[in-house]
Amino acid sequence: MKHTVTAICPGSFDPVTYGHLDIVTRASKMFERLIVVVASNSSKKSSFTPEERVEMIKKCTADLPNVEVVHYEGLLADYAAEIGATAIVKGLRAMSDFEYEFQMALTNKKLNPNVETLFLTTAAENMYLSSSMVKQIAKMGGDIESFVPDFIRQDIIDRIKK
Ligand code: PNS
Repeated sequence: MKHTVTAICPGSFDPVTYGHLDIVTRASKMFERLIVVVASNSSKKSSFTPEERVEMIKKCTADLPNVEVVHYEGLLADYAAEIGATAIVKGLRAMSDFEYEFQMALTNKKLNPNVETLFLTTAAENMYLSSSMVKQIAKMGGDIESFVPDFIRQDIIDRIKK
């Protein structure tokens, strides 16, 4: 039986941005199967339901045949074990991300020793980009064209400006 190398790319994606999509696209070239996991971050209040976030990511990744998008409510380490994923891929923007990401990587390793966390350095143009920044700009009527794809731009504006 052929062994498929599966990786997961988790996040809250509230909403997905070009920064996330750059990481997903690059990771999709490194693994046979990449599953984008919309998960809950207990320290963040979300603006979009998990189902809405999944739909937005699906629209933006339709051209990547080995990418799937799911919502998982639970521990990421358990999900990785359930589907036999061997890697968690995350983007790292700046030193400010490091401590938090390092803590999560070590915790996930403790919970599931079979999964490795790999960090991809973010593209230079996305260093400053975050979902919360996109929401803030949309709320104040700013242009979010350079931060999110056209497919989802109006959905974000409609939700945030409400
Ligand atoms: O995009 P974010 O908010 O930085 O992503 C964080 C996320 C959602 C990946 C993280 O909070 C997570 O893994 N949540 C699922 C629950 C879990 O496994 N928590 C323990 C992580 S050490």
